[in-house]
Amino acid sequence: MPSKIFVFDAYGTLFDVHAAIRRYSTGPDAERMSDIWRTKQLEYTWTLTLAGHYADFWELTGRALDFALACTPSIDKALRPKLLDAYFKLDAFPDARAVLRQLKERGHKTAILSNGSPAMLKGAVDGAGIGGDLDASLSVDVLRMYKPRPEVYALVTDRFKCAPADVTFVSSNRWDVMGAMSFGFRALWVNRGKMPEEYPDQAPLEAIGDLGGLASSFG
Ligand code: 2OP
Repeated sequence: MPSKIFVFDAYGTLFDVHAAIRRYSTGPDAERMSDIWRTKQLEYTWTLTLAGHYADFWELTGRALDFALACTPSIDKALRPKLLDAYFKLDAFPDARAVLRQLKERGHKTAILSNGSPAMLKGAVDGAGIGGDLDASLSVDVLRMYKPRPEVYALVTDRFKCAPADVTFVSSNRWDVMGAMSFGFRALWVNRGKMPEEYPDQAPLEAIGDLGGLASSFG
């Protein structure tokens, strides 16, 4: 069986971005704070990249948390350092470790391609204990620009000396799937949140509910 290259987005796909708040608080305000935190974090990546500026993802994660806490007064601001610490060592989704192991057992190459800074990615990968099942952990930081710039997806083809069509890219972020398809990857959308379809011109190869059957269906 020929070896394939599977590349995963990190935050939201392998790592649960809402796990940080769940360690300290639950309920509607906690969920709202976490949603704003994530939304602002991504917005900052897009606005900075469009304006030709860069601050690393850890810095943007902190700025977005400050905004989210200011929007939700019922969440204790003193949680800030704890929430950031939890974000640094985010919980992996239960199916993330298994899919990477199954793909490696089938002889495939696996990697992460993420907005995360190298230090953040190392913290999350080490915390989840998945480093042994990854061939590479690629960060946008070397380029100082964020997804969905095509230069970011080219980090994969440069690293594996392959054509875009050789890569199966896996992301829970529909806009990231759009960027990956536009670059020429085969992309799977992990639609954990059962969100409606969007970006009709850049449809994924397939939408899957979680990472559970990925290795047997596509590996
Ligand atoms: C990542 O690059 C977009 O958060 C997402 O890991």
